[in-house]
Amino acid sequence: MKGIILAGGTGSRLFPITEGVSKQLIPIYDKPMIYYPLSCLMLANIKDILIITTPEDQYSFMRLLKDGRDFGVNITYITQSKPEGLAQAFILGEDFIGDSESAMILGDNIFYGNNFSDLLDNACKNAKEGYATIFGNEVKDPERFGIMELDNNLNVVSVEEKPKKPKSNWAITGLYFYPKGVSKLAKSIKKSDRGEYEITTLNDFYLKKNKLKAQLLEEGFTWFDTGTFDSQLDASNMIRTIEINKDKVICCPEQIGYYKGWISKNDLKNRAKVLSKNSYGKYLYKIVEEEK
Ligand code: DAU
Repeated sequence: MKGIILAGGTGSRLFPITEGVSKQLIPIYDKPMIYYPLSCLMLANIKDILIITTPEDQYSFMRLLKDGRDFGVNITYITQSKPEGLAQAFILGEDFIGDSESAMILGDNIFYGNNFSDLLDNACKNAKEGYATIFGNEVKDPERFGIMELDNNLNVVSVEEKPKKPKSNWAITGLYFYPKGVSKLAKSIKKSDRGEYEITTLNDFYLKKNKLKAQLLEEGFTWFDTGTFDSQLDASNMIRTIEINKDKVICCPEQIGYYKGWISKNDLKNRAKVLSKNSYGKYLYKIVEEEK
């Protein structure tokens, strides 16, 4: 299973903040935004990760994440010259994906909640069995999102991108799992009226073949699309509250890499040294000491 983080786009909704820096590099409380989607792919046991950025921002991402060695993953980078839609990630990523199943997460999406690893394991299993998986979260402003309509057995009946008259409140979050062959399908998508290769069109292909499954995030699950000033502040406040209450750092890729055995205790200690001036580094030291 290969993983893609889509971290391009103009960031224009966040100007002036993003006039000088990529959105996915700005902080959500104590870490850069991209650490959250990175953690998510790692939780799904995905070690081979492609990061797609704008040409201008690629170097900054490389400077931050290097080749992934701090976390025990293999990161490669490519650029998207123009933001022509989410499904383009699978066209640009065709060589990277090769003959594997794949997952994509948007660089501004944050997931945190109970049983998330189980949901991710299911999605990987679905992909191996030839099914795509999308994740639904109930929202109060469904016009802002891709929306899935469900029947009484919670099967997906329709998917629509930002519908004017939404058929449900179940937003399709920015995390998608696909079986082998997704790039070929993505290449057959035509641009929408707003000039994008829509991920919702790709999902609709799978739906029409009866190969689309949905997993619903429970009440109490935390999902943020941190694309606006307010959602960023809300996300930062929420992460801070969770971390203070639990006395831990969440969505911490160093910890996930260590627990999965992808980096050694010594690697973790070296990383803690770099971050030792703040609570993030102190947390890493705590993990080094707690483990035998
Ligand atoms: O967050 C979930 C939503 O994400 C879904 O419900 C929608 O179905 C999906 O289309 C998407 O909606 P957004 O309005 O959030 O899409 P946006 O154009 O803002 O792009 C999402 C992120 O992907 C954003 O951080 C920029 C990046 N991006 C976007 C495009 C279109 C790229 O890197 N390249 C692109 O070509």
